[in-house]
Amino acid sequence: MKKIFHVFVLGTILIFGSCNKNNNINKSSGNSEISSKVDSVLVLMTLKEKIGQLVQYNGSWDLTGPPSDVDSQEKFKKLKYGEVGSMLNVLTVKATREAQKAVMEHSRMKIPLIFGYDVIHGYKTIFPVPLGESASWDLELMRKTAEIAAIETSASGVHWTFSPMLDISRDARWGRIMEGSGEDTYLTSQIGVAKVRGYQGNDLSSKYTIAACAKHFAGYGFGEAGRDYNTVNIGEHELHNVILPPFKAVADAGVATFMNSFNEIDGIPATGSKILQRDLLKGAWNWDGFVVSDWGSINEMITHGYARDSKHAAELAINAGSDMDMESYAYESNLESLVSEGKVDIATIDDAVKRVLTIKFRLGLFDDPYKYCDEEREKNEIYTKINLEVARDIARKSIVLLKNENNVLPLKKDGKGIAVIGPLADDKDTPLGNWRAQGMANSAVSFLEGIEAALKQKIPFQKGVELSIGKRSFLEPMTFNTTDRSGIPAAVELAKKSEVVLMVVGEDAFQSGEGRSQTNIGLAGLQHELIEEVYKVNQNIVLVLMNGRPLDISWYAERIPTILETWHLGSEAGNAIADVIFGDYNPSGKLPVSFPYSVGQEPLYYNQKNTGRPSNPVHVTYSHYNDAPKTALFPFGYGLSYTSFEYSKLKLSNDSFSGEESITVSVEVRNTGKVAGEEVIQLYIRDLVGSITRPIKELKGFEKVYFKAGESKIISFTIDNKTIEFYTANKKWEAEAGNFKVFVGGNSVDLIEKDFLFKN
Ligand code: BGC
Repeated sequence: MKKIFHVFVLGTILIFGSCNKNNNINKSSGNSEISSKVDSVLVLMTLKEKIGQLVQYNGSWDLTGPPSDVDSQEKFKKLKYGEVGSMLNVLTVKATREAQKAVMEHSRMKIPLIFGYDVIHGYKTIFPVPLGESASWDLELMRKTAEIAAIETSASGVHWTFSPMLDISRDARWGRIMEGSGEDTYLTSQIGVAKVRGYQGNDLSSKYTIAACAKHFAGYGFGEAGRDYNTVNIGEHELHNVILPPFKAVADAGVATFMNSFNEIDGIPATGSKILQRDLLKGAWNWDGFVVSDWGSINEMITHGYARDSKHAAELAINAGSDMDMESYAYESNLESLVSEGKVDIATIDDAVKRVLTIKFRLGLFDDPYKYCDEEREKNEIYTKINLEVARDIARKSIVLLKNENNVLPLKKDGKGIAVIGPLADDKDTPLGNWRAQGMANSAVSFLEGIEAALKQKIPFQKGVELSIGKRSFLEPMTFNTTDRSGIPAAVELAKKSEVVLMVVGEDAFQSGEGRSQTNIGLAGLQHELIEEVYKVNQNIVLVLMNGRPLDISWYAERIPTILETWHLGSEAGNAIADVIFGDYNPSGKLPVSFPYSVGQEPLYYNQKNTGRPSNPVHVTYSHYNDAPKTALFPFGYGLSYTSFEYSKLKLSNDSFSGEESITVSVEVRNTGKVAGEEVIQLYIRDLVGSITRPIKELKGFEKVYFKAGESKIISFTIDNKTIEFYTANKKWEAEAGNFKVFVGGNSVDLIEKDFLFKN
């Protein structure tokens, strides 16, 4: 009798739910409605069913037929019993429908699954890797690429992406630097919000939007020595001032979910950190989404030496605020007994379940669990021509021109005297980068294809050397060619008889990404040898770099006249690079991360502290290196154009302000060259004295502006107490009175400046 009643009540809720489509992600009246719906579901659930909502399984088995191996059959059964709330890596309309059916047709509570997947830089239409895309500084276009990724993802049955990655990364050795927006807190915050808006839109219940996930909370990008998963030891102020602001920004923007991280910070694994998850995120920030653990990170607390066993790990994680267990199996095995032993409060379980149900309601899954299962959409909305056009646009905007001595670029479009050399030039796979979701192997437009399409003719090409050999994949260790030099002589011969050599080198797609830390950030394999040999016979080289991390390119920067940083640009890479090489697009990208002179400088970032000994004209006893500069080879914010920009007439509306007042900073920017172009105008400040020491410079604003040849414009920024506040010695966000500098320019080094005072 009880069961019948429950089912009836649930039926009523579902019908009521379907009449109301107002599941807005923003804080709105819809939220209180959802909250009462959630309560009315929760009240019907057994403890086992509640725990089920906190369990996420990996499901990369073929759900198009009955699962074949025992493990998969077991998982499938658990879906039917309602013991699973979410699956990751189940893709396609057919597979997601099959899994959803198992829950909807067999489980008692019929609570739809939420399907998650790592859609990091596109689903099948692949955009530049996030670090590369961030070089565009084009927030609207980055919102747009997330929107397209959401459309393609939702068209294949998936509701949730584990993106954006908001880890600040200052260390080129860390392989996952390619997944974030680089070294700067402000830029990462802006991009994070743009991405969340793109994925989630204004209405999470639309069938074209998906839930986003802010990861990895927190500190993952600060692993010692750039080694993945490594220990993080940072002070509280660095945590609050550098690492947390992007997470706060997306929490305020309504991001649906967070993922915690593998690392420990100051002795506490993030997955078990109550301070981060419960006190800060869900407490002080009052954020109402749910937190998913990282893959197996609950059980990894045992290996960290923080939990005795899986049961202890589950207790620590749930109490700390990790709501959903991704692939540790710790919650399903232990939460029931932990509750009965009084080690986990039922209120803690209820809070976690409510959060998961809330997002499922906001996604509209209770209205229609199959709303993302539309074969027509799957056929028509993925990898479309129009999506590829956007991929080309963002790709060319992400390219950074690092050097262009004697204006070698742009090249004339006659193809005369051009040779293409290098292992990545005809590579149709590497441009897709790591974390390429459903990007099809070898589907990118290669560099060579792009150049030949632009010139409408064949271009002489020699590979010279292979870069990687053997199997390449997400989990496979990389092997580089270090012995086969047989292609070098032909490459040298070709270079001899050419006017300009386009040399395409860099990193394999799987050389950066998870688990891909390196101590050497030079060109791998025999690439350097190839360049040296070619350089001996022809110095008119355009070096085209494809990579997911900053590389040590000091040898080339000293000698080679022209260098283009093209990252791993995605599906349309070759076309986008050709657009820049032949001047159909004037490059406008700016580095989101510093490029060092040497790996020994890492971690390297522009917004360092001054130290007590920044310089000393007489002695060596100051903060520097004896064998390399302490600054970057190519600094944060840097990037050239085929035109040039002049900054002048920096003005402040007032040289002081107090309280709620603000001042306006204006600057005249003039395009002094002969072609139109875009410039990213950057605003930095320096707080001269603080209750804690302050960085020598901090980005606080930017605008990407288009200028016709010869055109000048006045660009303005506002500075108020929000601009200058930071996490102070009082352990609060405050604007402290004192003297400041404001800087404006086209990169973090070449700046013009003025002073102002904040009076409080
Ligand atoms: C990564 C996450 C990712 C998860 C699921 C983990 O190894 O750290 O970023 O979302 O796997 O694939």
